[in-house]
Amino acid sequence: MANTVLYDFKTGYPDLSLIPRERIDQFMHAIMLHSDALQYAGELPGTMRARTQIARLVAELYGMPTSVEEIIVTTGALSSADTTCRALTQPGDVVIVESPTFFFAVTIFQMSRVQVVGVPIRSDGIDLEALERTLKEYGSRVKLFYAIPAFHNPTGICYSVENRKALLALAERHNFTILEDVTYQPLYYGAAPPPIIKSFDTSGRVVTIASVSKLVMPALRVGWVYATPPMIATIQRFKGDGGTSMFNTEVVSAYIESGEFGAQIEAARRFYARKHDVMAAAMDRHMPDWLNWSAPGGGYFIWASVPDGMSAVSVIQAAQAHGIEIFPGAASYADVKDDSHLRLCFAYLPEQTIEEGIAALGKVLQGLR
Ligand SMILES: Cc1ncc(COP(=O)(O)O)c(C=O)c1O
Repeated sequence: MANTVLYDFKTGYPDLSLIPRERIDQFMHAIMLHSDALQYAGELPGTMRARTQIARLVAELYGMPTSVEEIIVTTGALSSADTTCRALTQPGDVVIVESPTFFFAVTIFQMSRVQVVGVPIRSDGIDLEALERTLKEYGSRVKLFYAIPAFHNPTGICYSVENRKALLALAERHNFTILEDVTYQPLYYGAAPPPIIKSFDTSGRVVTIASVSKLVMPALRVGWVYATPPMIATIQRFKGDGGTSMFNTEVVSAYIESGEFGAQIEAARRFYARKHDVMAAAMDRHMPDWLNWSAPGGGYFIWASVPDGMSAVSVIQAAQAHGIEIFPGAASYADVKDDSHLRLCFAYLPEQTIEEGIAALGKVLQGLR
């Protein structure tokens, strides 16, 4: 096995070269020298300034009028998911997730001592028939359905408008809340994804979460919960961190106030669109015919499937021996362990490295069958 990692397609992190370091530094410097934001935030849902600015950002990102009463500032989308799950479930309740889903979210829900149950997704969203069967099976124990409806991690799919509406109708009929994680919603490289599920919601059943991690900088650890005021009132009581860092939320607030955030989102879109295209072109050139994959048009990941009878883990091990790291699809399932997929991240590596790495991976894969 190679000791050094030459090509890391496994890590699903942003590329640090996108961070507007000097601007963030200026905001930090000004806050450090001239403001009181070195104190506890004092208010669990976030300061009025932070909520006002995040409400403004949310309105811009999702095209929906948003008020301060609809926002809780959190320590990232994962902390939003954790707080929402603790607020809306009791131990022993059921949280439904997509099969596959974002692996870390499963771990976080399990910390609430709930049963996490997977329901398959298709190319246009959740498998509604399978969801209905699961809802019948678990009945009123189902409290939450966690969805990543735009440029899903790990598969890259987007829910269609019809699928979103049908899901909402099921949530109403079976009395559960949809926790929609729209981390990748703004990162589209062709057509924009459909409007967020919350935009179709008339009964306050959708809680929308995301953060600045993938747009600006993960280490800020600033995200949000966006929901109706009564839902916000319920969820904020479960915020167990003493308040998100006032210093970091002031940095984000100053950035939004400056009016420059929109340009940063556009820069992120252009930046990752290039990597997406480089990756897709390299895969077109180098991957064997038996590997099934498609370019997602947004987000961070390409999801690839190996043929029946072949193990994705064995492909990953062969790649590892050549210094190429890939995320095993099997790690993205809450219950079933499906060993027929690979998740390749195109966001983290520089373009040149993507090209070289995919060429190297192509050679390894061509030799396998
Ligand atoms: C779907 C999804 N949600 C949330 C996160 C993490 O977000 P945050 O840094 O805001 O906690 C990620 C990143 O890996 C992700 O893929």
